Amino acid sequence: MTPLTNKVKYKPHKLYLAPMEGLGNYSFRNAISIIGGFDEATKEFISVPKNAHVKSLAKKFCPDDTYPIPQAAQIMGSCPEKLAAITEELIKLGAHRVELNVGCPSNTVTGNGSGSSLLKDPENLHKILYAMTKVSSVPISAKLRSGYEDTSLFKENLLAAESAGIAHLTLHARTKVEGYKGFASLELIKQAKEILSIPLIGNGDIKCRADAEYMLSYTKCDGVMVGRGAVINPWIFHEINGCDHLEDFSLTLKYLEKFYKNIQSSPERAQAGQLKALFSYMFQRNESLLTLRRDMLRSKEKDPKVFFKFCLSLLEKTLSIQKV
Ligand SMILES: Cc1cc2nc3c(=O)[nH]c(=O)nc-3n(C[C@H](O)[C@H](O)[C@H](O)COP(=O)(O)O)c2cc1C
Repeated sequence: MTPLTNKVKYKPHKLYLAPMEGLGNYSFRNAISIIGGFDEATKEFISVPKNAHVKSLAKKFCPDDTYPIPQAAQIMGSCPEKLAAITEELIKLGAHRVELNVGCPSNTVTGNGSGSSLLKDPENLHKILYAMTKVSSVPISAKLRSGYEDTSLFKENLLAAESAGIAHLTLHARTKVEGYKGFASLELIKQAKEILSIPLIGNGDIKCRADAEYMLSYTKCDGVMVGRGAVINPWIFHEINGCDHLEDFSLTLKYLEKFYKNIQSSPERAQAGQLKALFSYMFQRNESLLTLRRDMLRSKEKDPKVFFKFCLSLLEKTLSIQKV
């Protein structure tokens, strides 16, 4: 099916679907591509340990998950040689862009010197990104948080990344220690735009068109990335593009059916969990759904097929704009 992406008439800025390990895995990314509206997606990170066999690890990536919307690969690790080697492998497999994860806050990850812990040492960050850009025939990007414990190395990290030759940088403007608490700092995205010469993608807490517009106008960033907001409302990219009239329930239904089909390979018990995870976000979309969310979460239904139908019926009550 051709996504609606090409029908968008006016696209002032590039829109990115955020990588989200677990929540935004293949089942979701592949399904939301039916609705589209974003310019690029990024697959969740591939963790690259120091003893990695990069050829087999790279096979976790397939560029076609979000076809025809391009999907970039993301890698996470601390060894420049291994990260450079897997970059080469990913390009052979069709990656049009390879991104370094400089944001994962998990203690297991930071304990290995990867993810957001790279923000503690700008020189090392530069070394890793330089190793990647040196071997790469495609753009390399980096996705950073604003700092580890604090933002004292904010400028140094941005410049270290830029001077390594990356094509663009995405900033999720929270520190590692902040996790997902509070709000991403628009002030820091604004500062980053003033510091950097390469394109900057702003990220954090975009839940509607107005949020995206405000981030773009206040910070002057070159594009925005949306993660959880797209799980809540899969039409958010079209809304940001000013095409909210495109929404129709029959396509929302196709998106959900595709998601459900994609999770069929998991054991039944896991399927119910995956459906609950998706719907618990989706039911945050408006007040009337929010009141139904509790019923949905409290459901003891173990049969994923029955649970799926139950959720659809609740959604239909409030989202059945025009069921075709
Ligand atoms: C469940 C979950 C998994 C995530 N996994 C990744 C990941 O694999 N790589 C990454 O760079 N960021 C990851 N993130 C961070 C998101 O890409 C994004 O930066 C963050 O959620 C803020 O954007 P949002 O407010 O639009 O969701 C993850 C976030 C969540 C909630």
